[in-house]
Amino acid sequence: MSVQPFFSNFSGKRVQLGVCGSVAACKSPELLRLFLSAGCSVGVTLTSAAQQFVRPLLFEALGAAPAYGGMWPGESAAPADVFGHLEPAQNADVFCIAPATANTIGKLANGIADDMLSAQALAFKGPLVLAPAMNPRLWEAEATRENWEKLKRRGCVCLEPGLGSMACGEEGQGRLPAPYEICMRTLRAVAPQDLAGKSVLVTLGPTREMWDGVRFWSNPSSGMMGACLAAAAWLRGAEVTAVAGPCDVHLPEGVRVLQVRSAREMFDAAMVLWPSADIGCLTAAVADFRPIPVGREKYKKDQAADGRLSVEFEINADILRTMGENKRKGQVLIGFAAETSNLLENAKRKLAGKNCDMLAANIVGVPESGFDSETNRILLLDRTGREESWPVLPKSEAAWRIWDHVSLLST
Ligand code: C5P
Repeated sequence: MSVQPFFSNFSGKRVQLGVCGSVAACKSPELLRLFLSAGCSVGVTLTSAAQQFVRPLLFEALGAAPAYGGMWPGESAAPADVFGHLEPAQNADVFCIAPATANTIGKLANGIADDMLSAQALAFKGPLVLAPAMNPRLWEAEATRENWEKLKRRGCVCLEPGLGSMACGEEGQGRLPAPYEICMRTLRAVAPQDLAGKSVLVTLGPTREMWDGVRFWSNPSSGMMGACLAAAAWLRGAEVTAVAGPCDVHLPEGVRVLQVRSAREMFDAAMVLWPSADIGCLTAAVADFRPIPVGREKYKKDQAADGRLSVEFEINADILRTMGENKRKGQVLIGFAAETSNLLENAKRKLAGKNCDMLAANIVGVPESGFDSETNRILLLDRTGREESWPVLPKSEAAWRIWDHVSLLST
Protein backbone atom coordinates (compact mmCIF):
# COMPACT_ATOMS: atom_id res chain seq x y z
CA MET A 1 0.00 0.00 0.00
CA SER A 2 1.28 3.46 -0.79
CA VAL A 3 2.42 5.74 2.04
CA GLN A 4 0.77 9.10 2.54
CA PRO A 5 2.75 11.91 4.12
CA PHE A 6 0.93 13.09 7.22
CA PHE A 7 1.56 15.88 9.73
CA SER A 8 0.78 15.86 13.42
CA ASN A 9 1.83 19.44 14.24
CA PHE A 10 -1.58 21.12 14.11
CA SER A 11 -2.17 21.30 17.84
CA GLY A 12 -3.99 24.46 18.85
CA LYS A 13 -6.06 24.36 15.66
CA ARG A 14 -9.75 23.69 15.99
CA VAL A 15 -11.84 22.05 13.28
CA GLN A 16 -15.63 22.06 13.21
CA LEU A 17 -16.70 19.00 11.23
CA GLY A 18 -20.18 19.16 9.69
CA VAL A 19 -21.83 15.89 8.69
CA CYS A 20 -24.87 15.75 6.40
CA GLY A 21 -27.27 12.91 5.59
CA SER A 22 -25.56 10.83 2.94
CA VAL A 23 -24.46 7.19 2.97
CA ALA A 24 -20.95 8.65 2.92
CA ALA A 25 -21.54 9.89 6.50
CA CYS A 26 -20.10 6.51 7.49
CA LYS A 27 -16.70 7.89 6.37
CA SER A 28 -16.87 11.01 8.58
CA PRO A 29 -15.56 9.19 11.70
CA GLU A 30 -12.41 8.33 9.72
CA LEU A 31 -12.03 12.00 8.86
CA LEU A 32 -12.45 12.89 12.53
CA ARG A 33 -9.63 10.49 13.41
CA LEU A 34 -7.36 12.07 10.80
CA PHE A 35 -7.99 15.56 12.22
CA LEU A 36 -7.29 14.28 15.73
CA SER A 37 -4.08 12.57 14.67
CA ALA A 38 -2.98 15.83 13.00
CA GLY A 39 -3.19 17.32 16.52
CA CYS A 40 -6.38 19.37 15.98
CA SER A 41 -9.23 19.53 18.44
CA VAL A 42 -12.56 18.82 16.76
CA GLY A 43 -16.21 19.69 17.30
CA VAL A 44 -18.87 17.92 15.22
CA THR A 45 -22.29 18.98 14.00
CA LEU A 46 -24.68 16.44 12.48
CA THR A 47 -27.82 17.33 10.58
CA SER A 48 -30.91 15.36 11.52
CA ALA A 49 -30.59 13.36 8.27
CA ALA A 50 -26.96 12.53 9.14
CA GLN A 51 -28.18 11.13 12.45
CA GLN A 52 -30.18 8.53 10.52
CA PHE A 53 -26.80 7.10 9.45
CA VAL A 54 -24.42 7.90 12.34
CA ARG A 55 -25.02 8.94 15.95
CA PRO A 56 -23.41 11.93 17.71
CA LEU A 57 -22.28 9.51 20.43
CA LEU A 58 -19.98 7.75 17.96
CA PHE A 59 -18.09 10.99 17.27
CA GLU A 60 -17.92 11.82 20.99
CA ALA A 61 -16.59 8.36 21.75
CA LEU A 62 -13.89 8.87 19.11
CA GLY A 63 -12.80 12.16 20.69
CA ALA A 64 -14.98 14.96 19.27
CA ALA A 65 -16.14 17.56 21.80
CA PRO A 66 -18.87 18.58 21.65
CA ALA A 67 -21.09 16.82 19.10
CA TYR A 68 -24.07 18.98 18.11
CA GLY A 69 -27.26 17.65 16.61
CA GLY A 70 -30.64 19.36 16.95
CA MET A 71 -31.10 23.04 17.67
CA TRP A 72 -34.11 22.83 19.97
CA PRO A 73 -34.44 21.56 23.56
CA GLY A 74 -35.54 17.93 23.53
CA GLU A 75 -33.93 17.22 20.15
CA SER A 76 -31.09 14.74 19.99
CA ALA A 77 -27.64 16.24 20.88
CA ALA A 78 -29.10 19.74 21.40
CA PRO A 79 -26.69 22.09 23.21
CA ALA A 80 -27.10 22.39 26.98
CA ASP A 81 -26.59 26.15 26.76
CA VAL A 82 -29.37 27.71 24.66
CA PHE A 83 -27.01 30.39 23.36
CA GLY A 84 -24.14 27.96 22.85
CA HIS A 85 -25.15 26.92 19.37
CA LEU A 86 -23.00 29.48 17.57
CA GLU A 87 -19.91 28.56 19.60
CA PRO A 88 -18.00 27.26 16.51
CA ALA A 89 -18.17 30.77 15.01
CA GLN A 90 -15.97 31.93 17.88
CA ASN A 91 -13.80 28.88 18.46
CA ALA A 92 -13.21 27.07 15.17
CA ASP A 93 -10.30 27.90 12.85
CA VAL A 94 -11.86 26.00 9.94
CA PHE A 95 -15.27 24.52 9.17
CA CYS A 96 -15.24 21.35 7.09
CA ILE A 97 -18.51 19.85 5.88
CA ALA A 98 -18.06 16.26 4.73
CA PRO A 99 -20.22 14.85 3.34
CA ALA A 100 -22.02 17.99 2.14
CA THR A 101 -25.39 17.20 0.55
CA ALA A 102 -27.24 19.11 -2.18
CA ASN A 103 -29.65 20.31 0.52
CA THR A 104 -26.97 21.80 2.79
CA ILE A 105 -25.03 23.21 -0.20
CA GLY A 106 -28.27 24.94 -1.23
CA LYS A 107 -28.74 26.38 2.26
CA LEU A 108 -25.15 27.62 2.46
CA ALA A 109 -25.32 29.26 -0.95
CA ASN A 110 -28.52 31.07 -0.08
CA GLY A 111 -28.04 32.02 3.56
CA ILE A 112 -30.66 29.67 4.93
CA ALA A 113 -30.02 28.80 8.57
CA ASP A 114 -32.88 26.56 9.65
CA ASP A 115 -30.89 23.87 11.44
CA MET A 116 -27.84 23.69 13.66
CA LEU A 117 -25.29 23.02 10.91
CA SER A 118 -26.48 25.68 8.48
CA ALA A 119 -26.82 28.27 11.29
CA GLN A 120 -23.30 27.55 12.56
CA ALA A 121 -21.84 27.67 9.05
CA LEU A 122 -23.62 30.96 8.27
CA ALA A 123 -22.22 32.58 11.43
CA PHE A 124 -18.68 31.31 10.75
CA LYS A 125 -16.28 33.80 9.15
CA GLY A 126 -13.22 31.53 8.63
CA PRO A 127 -12.42 29.11 5.81
CA LEU A 128 -15.24 26.76 4.81
CA VAL A 129 -14.22 23.44 3.22
CA LEU A 130 -16.91 21.53 1.35
CA ALA A 131 -16.66 17.88 0.33
CA PRO A 132 -19.90 16.84 -1.38
CA ALA A 133 -21.40 13.38 -1.68
CA MET A 134 -24.71 12.77 -3.43
CA ASN A 135 -26.45 10.98 -6.27
CA PRO A 136 -25.04 12.20 -9.64
CA ARG A 137 -28.45 13.51 -10.67
CA LEU A 138 -28.57 15.75 -7.62
CA TRP A 139 -25.00 16.87 -8.31
CA GLU A 140 -25.78 17.68 -11.96
CA ALA A 141 -29.04 19.49 -11.19
CA GLU A 142 -29.01 23.09 -12.39
CA ALA A 143 -29.76 24.46 -8.93
CA THR A 144 -26.83 22.51 -7.40
CA ARG A 145 -24.49 23.73 -10.17
CA GLU A 146 -25.52 27.32 -9.53
CA ASN A 147 -25.19 26.97 -5.75
CA TRP A 148 -21.78 25.34 -6.11
CA GLU A 149 -20.46 28.08 -8.39
CA LYS A 150 -21.77 30.70 -5.95
CA LEU A 151 -19.88 29.07 -3.06
CA LYS A 152 -16.70 28.88 -5.14
CA ARG A 153 -16.97 32.58 -6.00
CA ARG A 154 -17.41 33.29 -2.32
CA GLY A 155 -14.01 31.70 -1.66
CA CYS A 156 -15.07 28.38 -0.12
CA VAL A 157 -12.59 25.53 -0.53
CA CYS A 158 -14.71 23.36 -2.84
CA LEU A 159 -13.56 19.77 -3.44
CA GLU A 160 -15.11 18.13 -6.47
CA PRO A 161 -16.85 14.82 -5.74
CA GLY A 162 -15.27 11.74 -7.30
CA LEU A 163 -16.46 9.64 -10.23
CA GLY A 164 -17.51 6.03 -9.81
CA SER A 165 -20.32 3.84 -8.58
CA MET A 166 -22.74 5.10 -5.94
CA ALA A 167 -24.20 3.16 -3.03
CA CYS A 168 -27.45 2.94 -5.04
CA GLY A 169 -25.61 1.23 -7.91
CA GLU A 170 -25.68 4.21 -10.28
CA GLU A 171 -22.49 5.46 -11.94
CA GLY A 172 -21.40 9.07 -12.19
CA GLN A 173 -19.96 11.98 -10.24
CA GLY A 174 -21.00 12.17 -6.63
CA ARG A 175 -18.61 10.13 -4.49
CA LEU A 176 -17.15 11.68 -1.36
CA PRO A 177 -13.49 12.65 -1.97
CA ALA A 178 -11.03 10.49 -0.02
CA PRO A 179 -10.86 11.40 3.72
CA TYR A 180 -7.07 11.94 3.41
CA GLU A 181 -7.66 14.50 0.65
CA ILE A 182 -10.39 16.28 2.61
CA CYS A 183 -8.17 16.37 5.69
CA MET A 184 -5.17 17.77 3.80
CA ARG A 185 -7.23 20.50 2.10
CA THR A 186 -8.65 21.44 5.51
CA LEU A 187 -5.21 21.53 7.13
CA ARG A 188 -3.94 23.70 4.27
CA ALA A 189 -6.65 26.21 5.13
CA VAL A 190 -5.18 26.64 8.63
CA ALA A 191 -1.46 26.11 7.94
CA PRO A 192 0.92 29.10 7.83
CA GLN A 193 1.00 30.30 4.22
CA ASP A 194 4.63 31.45 4.26
CA LEU A 195 5.35 29.72 0.92
CA ALA A 196 2.31 31.19 -0.87
CA GLY A 197 3.22 32.44 -4.33
CA LYS A 198 6.37 30.27 -4.44
CA SER A 199 6.90 27.62 -7.05
CA VAL A 200 8.68 24.62 -5.54
CA LEU A 201 10.34 21.76 -7.40
CA VAL A 202 11.00 18.57 -5.40
CA THR A 203 12.79 15.48 -6.73
CA LEU A 204 12.11 12.30 -4.80
CA GLY A 205 12.51 8.55 -4.69
CA PRO A 206 15.15 6.39 -6.33
CA THR A 207 15.96 6.19 -10.02
CA ARG A 208 15.97 2.96 -11.96
CA GLU A 209 18.68 2.31 -14.51
CA MET A 210 17.80 -0.56 -16.87
CA TRP A 211 20.54 -3.00 -17.79
CA ASP A 212 18.62 -5.56 -19.87
CA GLY A 213 14.92 -6.15 -20.59
CA VAL A 214 14.10 -7.06 -16.98
CA ARG A 215 16.94 -5.98 -14.67
CA PHE A 216 17.88 -2.62 -13.27
CA TRP A 217 20.27 -0.83 -10.92
CA SER A 218 18.68 1.19 -8.12
CA ASN A 219 18.60 1.80 -4.34
CA PRO A 220 16.08 1.38 -1.50
CA SER A 221 14.90 5.01 -1.30
CA SER A 222 11.20 5.03 -0.29
CA GLY A 223 10.60 8.61 -1.50
CA MET A 224 9.11 9.45 1.90
CA MET A 225 11.41 12.35 2.79
CA GLY A 226 10.69 14.05 -0.53
CA ALA A 227 6.97 13.29 -0.27
CA CYS A 228 6.90 14.95 3.18
CA LEU A 229 8.75 17.98 1.81
CA ALA A 230 6.42 18.27 -1.19
CA ALA A 231 3.27 17.89 0.94
CA ALA A 232 4.54 20.32 3.62
CA ALA A 233 5.39 22.98 1.01
CA TRP A 234 1.93 22.57 -0.52
CA LEU A 235 0.27 22.81 2.91
CA ARG A 236 2.20 26.06 3.45
CA GLY A 237 0.80 27.58 0.27
CA ALA A 238 3.39 26.75 -2.39
CA GLU A 239 2.65 25.52 -5.88
CA VAL A 240 4.55 22.23 -5.91
CA THR A 241 5.79 19.97 -8.68
CA ALA A 242 7.28 16.65 -7.62
CA VAL A 243 9.48 14.74 -10.04
CA ALA A 244 9.21 11.23 -8.66
CA GLY A 245 11.28 8.17 -9.42
CA PRO A 246 9.64 4.72 -9.01
CA CYS A 247 8.28 4.64 -5.45
CA ASP A 248 4.98 4.09 -3.72
CA VAL A 249 4.07 7.41 -2.12
CA HIS A 250 0.71 9.11 -2.39
CA LEU A 251 0.77 12.90 -2.52
CA PRO A 252 -2.15 15.28 -1.98
CA GLU A 253 -3.93 15.99 -5.26
CA GLY A 254 -2.82 19.62 -5.13
CA VAL A 255 0.78 18.54 -5.76
CA ARG A 256 1.61 18.05 -9.45
CA VAL A 257 3.49 14.77 -9.86
CA LEU A 258 5.66 13.87 -12.85
CA GLN A 259 6.64 10.20 -12.81
CA VAL A 260 10.06 9.36 -14.19
CA ARG A 261 12.20 6.23 -14.12
CA SER A 262 15.83 6.86 -14.92
CA ALA A 263 18.27 9.55 -13.80
CA ARG A 264 18.29 10.88 -17.35
CA GLU A 265 14.49 11.28 -17.35
CA MET A 266 14.70 13.00 -13.94
CA PHE A 267 17.46 15.28 -15.23
CA ASP A 268 15.40 16.28 -18.30
CA ALA A 269 12.29 17.03 -16.23
CA ALA A 270 14.27 19.03 -13.66
CA MET A 271 15.98 21.11 -16.35
CA VAL A 272 12.63 22.05 -17.88
CA LEU A 273 11.15 23.02 -14.50
CA TRP A 274 14.09 24.73 -12.77
CA PRO A 275 14.13 28.06 -14.69
CA SER A 276 10.60 28.90 -13.53
CA ALA A 277 10.93 27.56 -9.96
CA ASP A 278 11.68 29.68 -6.88
CA ILE A 279 12.92 26.79 -4.76
CA GLY A 280 14.49 23.46 -5.72
CA CYS A 281 14.60 20.72 -3.12
CA LEU A 282 16.44 17.65 -4.31
CA THR A 283 15.78 14.67 -2.12
CA ALA A 284 15.93 12.02 -4.85
CA ALA A 285 18.47 9.26 -4.40
CA VAL A 286 19.64 9.51 -7.97
CA ALA A 287 21.77 6.60 -9.16
CA ASP A 288 25.23 8.06 -9.71
CA PHE A 289 26.04 5.34 -12.24
CA ARG A 290 23.99 3.57 -14.89
CA PRO A 291 24.89 0.18 -16.31
CA ILE A 292 25.58 0.22 -20.02
CA PRO A 293 22.59 -1.77 -21.30
CA VAL A 294 23.16 -5.14 -22.97
CA GLY A 295 19.92 -4.84 -24.96
CA ARG A 296 16.16 -4.96 -24.57
CA GLU A 297 15.95 -8.77 -24.27
CA LYS A 298 16.44 -10.68 -21.04
CA TYR A 299 20.13 -11.57 -20.68
CA LYS A 300 20.34 -15.36 -20.24
CA LYS A 301 22.44 -17.18 -17.64
CA ASP A 302 24.23 -19.23 -20.28
CA GLN A 303 25.42 -16.04 -22.01
CA ALA A 304 27.77 -15.36 -19.07
CA ALA A 305 31.17 -16.81 -19.96
CA ASP A 306 32.91 -18.81 -17.16
CA GLY A 307 29.89 -18.32 -14.92
CA ARG A 308 30.93 -14.68 -14.36
CA LEU A 309 29.28 -11.46 -15.39
CA SER A 310 30.88 -8.06 -15.76
CA VAL A 311 28.64 -5.05 -15.97
CA GLU A 312 30.05 -1.77 -17.22
CA PHE A 313 28.76 1.51 -15.86
CA GLU A 314 28.84 5.10 -16.95
CA ILE A 315 28.29 8.18 -14.80
CA ASN A 316 24.93 9.97 -14.66
CA ALA A 317 24.82 13.75 -14.80
CA ASP A 318 24.46 15.38 -11.38
CA ILE A 319 21.08 17.14 -11.36
CA LEU A 320 21.73 19.16 -8.20
CA ARG A 321 25.13 20.35 -9.40
CA THR A 322 23.71 21.37 -12.79
CA MET A 323 20.86 23.26 -11.13
CA GLY A 324 23.40 24.96 -8.83
CA GLU A 325 25.42 26.02 -11.87
CA ASN A 326 22.29 27.47 -13.44
CA LYS A 327 20.85 29.14 -10.36
CA ARG A 328 19.56 32.65 -10.87
CA LYS A 329 19.50 35.35 -8.20
CA GLY A 330 16.71 34.76 -5.72
CA GLN A 331 16.38 31.03 -6.37
CA VAL A 332 16.92 28.80 -3.34
CA LEU A 333 18.49 25.37 -3.79
CA ILE A 334 18.31 22.66 -1.14
CA GLY A 335 20.38 19.50 -1.45
CA PHE A 336 20.44 16.28 0.50
CA ALA A 337 23.39 14.09 1.30
CA ALA A 338 23.08 10.49 2.33
CA GLU A 339 26.42 9.39 3.75
CA THR A 340 27.86 6.33 5.40
CA SER A 341 30.68 8.27 7.16
CA ASN A 342 32.30 11.73 7.58
CA LEU A 343 28.91 13.43 7.61
CA LEU A 344 29.98 17.00 8.37
CA GLU A 345 32.95 17.03 6.04
CA ASN A 346 30.96 15.59 3.10
CA ALA A 347 28.02 17.89 3.81
CA LYS A 348 30.21 21.01 3.78
CA ARG A 349 31.85 19.94 0.55
CA LYS A 350 28.49 19.36 -1.16
CA LEU A 351 26.94 22.62 0.09
CA ALA A 352 29.74 24.63 -1.49
CA GLY A 353 30.58 22.34 -4.41
CA LYS A 354 27.01 22.15 -5.68
CA ASN A 355 26.22 25.83 -5.01
CA CYS A 356 23.38 24.97 -2.57
CA ASP A 357 21.78 27.40 -0.13
CA MET A 358 21.03 24.64 2.31
CA LEU A 359 22.06 21.05 2.71
CA ALA A 360 20.40 18.36 4.82
CA ALA A 361 22.75 15.49 5.53
CA ASN A 362 22.03 12.19 7.17
CA ILE A 363 23.79 8.93 7.85
CA VAL A 364 22.36 5.92 6.04
CA GLY A 365 22.55 2.33 7.20
CA VAL A 366 21.39 3.04 10.79
CA PRO A 367 17.86 2.09 11.86
CA GLU A 368 16.38 5.53 12.61
CA SER A 369 17.74 7.45 9.65
CA GLY A 370 18.01 7.46 5.88
CA PHE A 371 16.49 5.16 3.26
CA ASP A 372 13.20 3.42 3.89
CA SER A 373 12.86 4.72 7.45
CA GLU A 374 9.98 6.78 8.88
CA THR A 375 12.36 8.95 10.83
CA ASN A 376 15.49 10.87 10.03
CA ARG A 377 18.38 12.41 11.95
CA ILE A 378 19.46 15.48 10.04
CA LEU A 379 22.52 17.67 10.13
CA LEU A 380 21.51 20.96 8.52
CA LEU A 381 23.98 23.40 7.02
CA ASP A 382 23.25 26.60 5.17
CA ARG A 383 25.09 29.19 3.12
CA THR A 384 25.22 31.61 6.07
CA GLY A 385 27.38 29.13 8.01
CA ARG A 386 24.66 27.88 10.30
CA GLU A 387 25.07 24.26 11.42
CA GLU A 388 22.31 22.44 13.30
CA SER A 389 22.23 18.85 14.41
CA TRP A 390 18.63 17.73 14.83
CA PRO A 391 17.44 14.81 16.96
CA VAL A 392 15.74 11.79 15.38
CA LEU A 393 12.46 13.16 14.01
CA PRO A 394 9.57 11.77 11.98
CA LYS A 395 10.28 12.70 8.35
CA SER A 396 7.15 14.88 8.31
CA GLU A 397 8.47 16.89 11.26
CA ALA A 398 11.93 17.17 9.69
CA ALA A 399 10.32 18.40 6.46
CA TRP A 400 8.29 21.01 8.33
CA ARG A 401 11.46 22.29 10.05
CA ILE A 402 13.33 22.47 6.75
CA TRP A 403 10.67 24.86 5.40
CA ASP A 404 10.84 26.87 8.66
CA HIS A 405 14.54 27.19 7.98
CA VAL A 406 13.98 28.28 4.36
CA SER A 407 11.72 31.07 5.61
CA LEU A 408 14.51 32.20 7.98
CA LEU A 409 17.01 32.10 5.14
CA SER A 410 14.92 34.25 2.82
CA THR A 411 14.14 36.95 5.41
O1 C5P B 1 26.83 13.70 -4.33
P1 C5P B 1 25.60 13.06 -3.82
O2 C5P B 1 24.97 12.13 -4.78
O3 C5P B 1 25.72 12.43 -2.46
O4 C5P B 1 24.59 14.30 -3.59
C1 C5P B 1 23.32 14.11 -3.09
C2 C5P B 1 22.43 15.24 -3.53
O5 C5P B 1 22.59 15.44 -4.93
C3 C5P B 1 20.97 14.97 -3.33
O6 C5P B 1 20.30 16.20 -3.12
C4 C5P B 1 20.57 14.32 -4.64
O7 C5P B 1 19.17 14.47 -4.90
C5 C5P B 1 21.42 15.08 -5.64
N1 C5P B 1 21.85 14.32 -6.80
C6 C5P B 1 21.41 14.70 -8.04
N2 C5P B 1 21.86 14.06 -9.17
C7 C5P B 1 22.72 13.05 -9.07
C8 C5P B 1 23.17 12.63 -7.81
C9 C5P B 1 22.72 13.30 -6.70
O8 C5P B 1 20.59 15.62 -8.12
N3 C5P B 1 23.11 12.44 -10.17
